[in-house]
Amino acid sequence: MDDKDTMPIEPLKRLALLGALESNIAISSAEFAHHLDTSPQTASRKLQLLEQENMIARRMLPNGQEIMITETGMIALQKEYQDYQQIFGGVDEIRLAGVVCTGLGEGRYYTMLGGYLQQFEQKLGFTPYPGTLNIELNPYSVNTRKQLDAMKDIHIEGFEDGVRTFGSAKCFRVKIDGTYGAIIIPNRKNYPDNIIEVIAPVNLREHLRVDDESKVEVILCRI
Ligand code: CDP
Repeated sequence: MDDKDTMPIEPLKRLALLGALESNIAISSAEFAHHLDTSPQTASRKLQLLEQENMIARRMLPNGQEIMITETGMIALQKEYQDYQQIFGGVDEIRLAGVVCTGLGEGRYYTMLGGYLQQFEQKLGFTPYPGTLNIELNPYSVNTRKQLDAMKDIHIEGFEDGVRTFGSAKCFRVKIDGTYGAIIIPNRKNYPDNIIEVIAPVNLREHLRVDDESKVEVILCRI
């Protein structure tokens, strides 16, 4: 098979097994060929391809090269891992992890609008503490977060108050360190995919004793 155009995941996996996710590894194409059980030419071509695809960063040395897997490469491997998890049905939990961050200060205003508040109470079963806890996702979770697009959501309808229109949103129930809440994703273009906003019946910063930069994880609840 001519693999000229396909992204070689096997060599990337080999590099990860050799430690190239954590640090630069020094390896010649001949040595790498041995690991791949192929010819040095093929190994070298695969490395070139990975470099072109920005999956690895390489530094040429007089007697070999140093290789490290880039963030793009890591995400490709994680995607592969998730595919296997799906194939073998190993997980039925979706976890999103990141660090607490401060948003634009608008969450308080929006969550308290009657048109939304009523729906939160009816559809989620709680009155949210005013505002949203913003979490900046790690690259792995940004990828996982995309799975939500295909999942059944709790739909929050948009409304008008006579002056302006407020858009619809998607909610997903989550558990955050034992506390129940929901991710809210506004249905608007250009909404960042590396941030999630969580509403909950309690002030999460106080309840979880977290602040900007604290690591947190949310677990999606099956509805
Ligand atoms: O947008 P920004 O993060 O500035 O704030 P907000 O959405 O208006 O929320 C006000 C504050 O309450 C922020 O510091 C949120 O992180 C926090 N908050 C919380 O700790 N727990 C909640 N359930 C909702 C908001």
